Amino acid sequence: MSNAISGFSKLSKSEKIEWLLDTYFTDKDIARKLVKQYWNSDEKLQKLHDEFIENTITNYYLPLGVAPNFSINGKLYTIPMAIEESSVVAAASKAAKFWLKRGGFKAEVISTEKIGQVHFTYDGYFNDLASFFKAVKPKLLSSASDITENMERRGGGILDIELRNKTEKLDDYYQLHATFETLDAMGANFINSCLEQFADTLKNEAEHNLEGNLDVVMSILSNYVPNCLVRAEVECPVSELKSKDIKNPEEFAEKFKQAVNIAEVEPYRAVTHNKGAMNGIDAVILATGNDFRAVEAGVHAYAAKDGQYSSLTHCSIEDGVFKFWLEIPLALGTVGGLTNLHPLVKFSLEMLRNPSARDLMQIVAVAGLAQNFGAVKSLTTTGIQEGHMKMHLMNILNQLKATPKEKVRLIEHFKTNVVTHGAVVEAIKNLR
Ligand code: MEV
Repeated sequence: MSNAISGFSKLSKSEKIEWLLDTYFTDKDIARKLVKQYWNSDEKLQKLHDEFIENTITNYYLPLGVAPNFSINGKLYTIPMAIEESSVVAAASKAAKFWLKRGGFKAEVISTEKIGQVHFTYDGYFNDLASFFKAVKPKLLSSASDITENMERRGGGILDIELRNKTEKLDDYYQLHATFETLDAMGANFINSCLEQFADTLKNEAEHNLEGNLDVVMSILSNYVPNCLVRAEVECPVSELKSKDIKNPEEFAEKFKQAVNIAEVEPYRAVTHNKGAMNGIDAVILATGNDFRAVEAGVHAYAAKDGQYSSLTHCSIEDGVFKFWLEIPLALGTVGGLTNLHPLVKFSLEMLRNPSARDLMQIVAVAGLAQNFGAVKSLTTTGIQEGHMKMHLMNILNQLKATPKEKVRLIEHFKTNVVTHGAVVEAIKNLR
């Protein structure tokens, strides 16, 4: 392979960039200028970003927007959202304001248990392994005491370790299934360190006290946390749903519920329905320096927990009361990791009044519910394109390099005309 390179990581940042430019770019000056344009002029800040990952060449910006007017359990929040998709922040703000006048959002943390597993094989009898595990369990726990000391002082730590027999699924396969309380930390490092210690102790003890061969395959936390659950909810009398966009609240409520019921039974719709909720969830997760891949993986696994992928949100209309709620697993942190490092994460957390991990779980769940409400409300009333294309107009205008004056005229024009890419090109041509 002609483009293969060895020792790339050892090159300086400038050398890496020059190698890239030489290898892949026709106009090196333009590419070099772009890479440098996105550097921060504050050298210390740039170094901080350079060191988050390996082989950093520049920064990749996402807008950080805010959605005000979120009433959550009676407290008002402005929610920070890092996201590139136009209309998400606007829809969140609109949903926040809608529910502000109707009692606000309620949220509660149902549970906070994290999970990690040591996966191992054993070729002896299960009964021998079970007795061995019973005898060795206190040692497994105490062997991690250096790691757990601080967490325990704050009220967290290891909750339990179970031996799980998985040989029906895979020959010789067993697990140590461990549960943890990690308080305000997401806990990945804490959990993985404990697990690696359990694995070492298990292997050592097995060598001396167990017949048969025990081999550790791997030790890692699980991003599936069905017992780290949060619920967010809104409710109001159906009649109070009446608003500028909702002329007939009874009809709206029924249609909205029908849309949610469809997402509950139809996976193709459920995925898109949940994607709408994730628009809100991921944006807050990113703004607060949490791991959106972990959250995505865990949330979607939860959506499929009953054997078929289904809606994360649910709706009821009973005794004239409309209720809409979401229940999701969320393993979040408000200390450690990026939360201590990224200045904009600190800024976002301060905006949220420095929440605990439990508070943040509630805020994120509310953002997801609000976003899903906004999407399903649009879909079942005006359709999604009207709002989307209005927001998209600005992107098209920027693509077409519209001047500030042209923007003002065209935004006015498209208040009463349908936005399509072709129509915007045509309108700008007419103006010019
Ligand atoms: C677009 O980002 C999200 C929606 O497709 C969600 C939905 O269909 O519910 C509008």
